[in-house]
Formats: sequence, structure tokens, C-alpha cells
Amino acid sequence: MALNISGAIEGSFQLIGGNFATAGEASTQLKLKLTNLGVHEDIIRRAAIATFEAEMNVIIYAAAGRLHYYITQQSIKIRVEDMGPGIEDISLAMQEGYSTAPEWVREMGWGAGMGLPNMKKNSDKFSIDSVVGEGTTVEMVINFS
Ligand SMILES: Nc1ncnc2c1ncn2[C@@H]1O[C@H](COP(=O)(O)OP(=O)(O)OP(=O)(O)O)[C@@H](O)[C@H]1O
Ligand SMILES: [Mg+2]
Repeated sequence: MALNISGAIEGSFQLIGGNFATAGEASTQLKLKLTNLGVHEDIIRRAAIATFEAEMNVIIYAAAGRLHYYITQQSIKIRVEDMGPGIEDISLAMQEGYSTAPEWVREMGWGAGMGLPNMKKNSDKFSIDSVVGEGTTVEMVINFS
């Protein structure tokens, strides 16, 4: 089914480190937007998983961040940038099961070390860039067909 988007729809959400009370809000809002646009549910699910994992990482590891989305007829692009500690070894962080989540985060059910691998798995294009002491940027593209 063709989507009814002329040009592009874009926006952003602010993410605040440690704010578990509002965790998942950005991905929920984005999911609603994609649903209203008539995007296929399989695509919405992939976008929701990828966005939620990226959002959680900012909340868990960084002081603050922002999630930008850019929706066109063809795809959704998501960019999540944070002001956090950065990642020293990206290839290690990308490994399934690798996590530095502290005990109190694990007690909340996080820290399986699956977030980044799942973001990659659910995206058609995935890139991550990080500078230690400055922050991390994740970019994901999910095609609509
Ligand atoms: N935005 C970020 N800033 C700093 N470090 C990060 C960030 N995102 C991920 N990391 C580092 O990469 C590791 C792996 O991240 P990933 O999301 O795959 O797993 P996790 O967050 O530890 O567990 P899960 O996502 O399964 O709850 C993290 O434990 C952390 O060390
Ligand atoms: Mg994670």
C-alpha cells in the first residue's frame, strides 16, 4: 500500500539520562506516527524495537540525548545522539551479550547486551559513531519496501 507522504515528516524527542519514568515515550510516539501514516506493521515493529533500544541506551548510559526521525515515502531514518561517556570499543559493544550495565540496571531487567545487535538486526542501514568523553551517535534506516 502506498503511503500518503508528500515531502518528509521530521521531528525529534529529547531524552534525559536516568529518566526511567518516561523511558519508551519517544519510541511509542514514533510508533503511533507510523501507524497513522499506514506503514506496514512488520516495518513498524522493526522501527519500534530499534528506536526503543536506542532510547534505553541513552537513558541508561548518557546524561542526555536526542532522537531525530525523518520519514519519507521510502523509509524512516532515525538518528539518536547523546552526550554521554562514549564507547571505547565499538566492535566489542556490538557483540551479543556484551554489557557494562551496572547491577541496579540489571535488576530492572536491562543489560542483556542485546540492544545494539538488535538495532542492527532490525535496520536496513545501521551505523554507530562514538567519541569517548563526548558521546555516541547511532543512525538507522528502515526501508518501507
Ligand atoms: N549510548 C551509549 N553510551 C555509552 N555506552 C553505550 C551506549 N550504548 C551502548 N553502550 C555500551 O555498549 C554496551 C552494549 O550495549 P547494548 O545496548 O547492546 O547492551 P546493554 O544496554 O548492555 O543491554 P540491553 O540493551 O540488552 O539491555 C553497553 O553495556 C554499554 O557499555
Ligand atoms: Mg542496551
